[in-house]
Amino acid sequence: MKVVGICGSPRDKGNTEYLVQYTLDRLKEKGVETELIKLREKKVAFCVACYKCVKEKKCVVNDDLEEIFQKIEAADGLLLGSPVYHSAATPLLKALLDRLGFSGRWRVNKMVDTSVAYKFTGTPFSGKIAAPITVARRAGTTSAFSELLLWMAANDFIIVGNSYWNMSLAGKGGVTNASEDTEGLSNLDHLAENMAGLLNKLKKQ
Ligand SMILES: Cc1cc2nc3c(=O)[nH]c(=O)nc-3n(C[C@H](O)[C@H](O)[C@H](O)COP(=O)(O)O)c2cc1C
Repeated sequence: MKVVGICGSPRDKGNTEYLVQYTLDRLKEKGVETELIKLREKKVAFCVACYKCVKEKKCVVNDDLEEIFQKIEAADGLLLGSPVYHSAATPLLKALLDRLGFSGRWRVNKMVDTSVAYKFTGTPFSGKIAAPITVARRAGTTSAFSELLLWMAANDFIIVGNSYWNMSLAGKGGVTNASEDTEGLSNLDHLAENMAGLLNKLKKQ
């Protein structure tokens, strides 16, 4: 069982990275293999809407997208972490999600004529589990969280719940103090419990 955590912050060792790594560490303690992907270290351009993935069955833009796609495809679970930028996820993460979601759909589905209704058979992510984590100084955690949830919901992930939202509040001026948000971290403890529990249940099926 493997969970990939994606840190959508352009900052090294910032709050998002801390929170995603913290959750991965709790999963590791429960016997889950983990991997952190720092998007700041990858090249993932935004979707140019060329639609070539419809025929080619993969995105034709030559950067690190395919490598990340294959890591997610090989994993059982996904954590998406983002700092809040103007009430939304970062452009870094949005670029990744647009291309994963769009090219992913056409990897396993055919585009049909305009007169025909779609009957999608799934996505490359069908049945994988996922959860978002967001962090802000003050506001926008829920809207960024919703943005990530909506992507997961339309890409056939099984979304893992929690007894509170997986989010944290950081200090002023870009301070990196997510480790001090003990309530936020205890929510991530429970998220890891839920993720590991669900992975075990799915494995037994
Ligand atoms: C461009 C930009 C936009 C931001 N927008 C918001 C915002 O809308 N609401 C908020 O509370 N904090 C906002 N922040 C603060 C970050 O969300 C906060 O510092 C967060 O902890 C950064 O995460 P990181 O340490 O992982 O980079 C913004 C920061 C930047 C650089």
